[in-house]
Amino acid sequence: MNKTINGFSKRSKSEKISWLGENFTDSPEAFTQELSSWQHADAAVQRVIDGFTENSIANFALPYSVAPNFLINGKTYAIPMVIEESSVVAAASSAAKFWQERGGFHAEVLGTVKLGQVHFRWQGEAARLRQIFPTLKPVLLDCTGDLTENMDKRGGGILDIELIDFEAVEPEYYQLRVSFETCDSMGANFVNSVLERFADTLEDFFTNHPVLGEEERDVEVIMSILSNYTPDCMVRAWVECPIASFSELARSQGMDADTLADRFAMAVRIAEIDPYRATTHNKGIYNGIDAVVMATGNDFRAIEACGHAYASRDGQYRSLSTCRASNGMFRFELKIPLALGTVGGLTALHPLAKRSLELLGHPSAETLMCITAAVGLAQNFGAVRSLITTGIQHGHMKMHLTNILNHLGATEAEAAAAQVHFQNHPVSFSAARAFLKKGSAGAST
Ligand code: MEV
Repeated sequence: MNKTINGFSKRSKSEKISWLGENFTDSPEAFTQELSSWQHADAAVQRVIDGFTENSIANFALPYSVAPNFLINGKTYAIPMVIEESSVVAAASSAAKFWQERGGFHAEVLGTVKLGQVHFRWQGEAARLRQIFPTLKPVLLDCTGDLTENMDKRGGGILDIELIDFEAVEPEYYQLRVSFETCDSMGANFVNSVLERFADTLEDFFTNHPVLGEEERDVEVIMSILSNYTPDCMVRAWVECPIASFSELARSQGMDADTLADRFAMAVRIAEIDPYRATTHNKGIYNGIDAVVMATGNDFRAIEACGHAYASRDGQYRSLSTCRASNGMFRFELKIPLALGTVGGLTALHPLAKRSLELLGHPSAETLMCITAAVGLAQNFGAVRSLITTGIQHGHMKMHLTNILNHLGATEAEAAAAQVHFQNHPVSFSAARAFLKKGSAGAST
């Protein structure tokens, strides 16, 4: 059967669903019914959601959760988180509660600079280009007035344009590296529009230059695009307390506070030393970060790409967090680039992204950077605390039990009985299956 199609995007949503059901599923009717049910009840809202991408045929549900009791820079937040992994929100909430009693999370923005690049070829001498650049720069700055007007009014705009010479690694390759302040917006469209204007102006400038030689006129722009690597759009979040305040937690794990703090710091150092561990360690950080980034309608791929590039900045992939346990004090810190926005883009369009920002008190982009970094640090704290004490499966499987029971088709009564039973028994898929097979009464002892 020929399963290709022309003009798929032009078909109505129900035509798309029917065509897919008929051509790619075993049960077209069930497929059509299921997909048709995953639509928003309000047609106007559904139209907005469908407008986010091409060929949208349904809404894919993920839980929208909240982690309360987050004390960040002296203010208490209930944090919206969109994530499917069972234990993440529970771990964030538990870490938030732990630190609430120890001064909470502290965070500061270290910079908000965004970057973009115009990559181009030029056949003349590098020295000659450097000589011409000071006359090119004001022309570039002058050509974008209509694009930067609004951003300028908000206190942002173009900060600088640098000429970067890559001749040594790729003949004729140069770059305009442009820095921007985009205020409360993530600024991708603004940055890309400015860069494309720069590209046109650059070509124009050289083609029509009155005194350049023939080969010096030949500029070829390869591409113009923002860079998702923004090491100067950075936030630092930290927690600190006397090591003695770990006593109760440590005692519950059969160790003393110094041992717990020392094991914690060692676990973080391992992630600084070993990229295999660092990847998992940082993944734990992004469990928290991505969940907030998603809930607030920001771009989690951009945030992750940037963070992982930053984690490799000295040539080796390392932990994004650091920990010090010395002189009776424990300090755990996360320094992370976060190019976030609280206006424009999906933040203004997605109905729940708007609600998330409302829950967070309509934060500025800088405040959202602080909040998000604090959640990443909390998540990291929760994971490492589990790893160096009970092990991760203890809490994880408890949270995962609901998924297992759903998968096994447990009734509500069976699920309730299982939740009681597994409070004192190790959770596993086979243990849950055995429990349901035996019948909850028989297995509850
Ligand atoms: C699981 O999603 C995240 C952890 O693996 C993070 C870590 O190991 O630090 C628990």
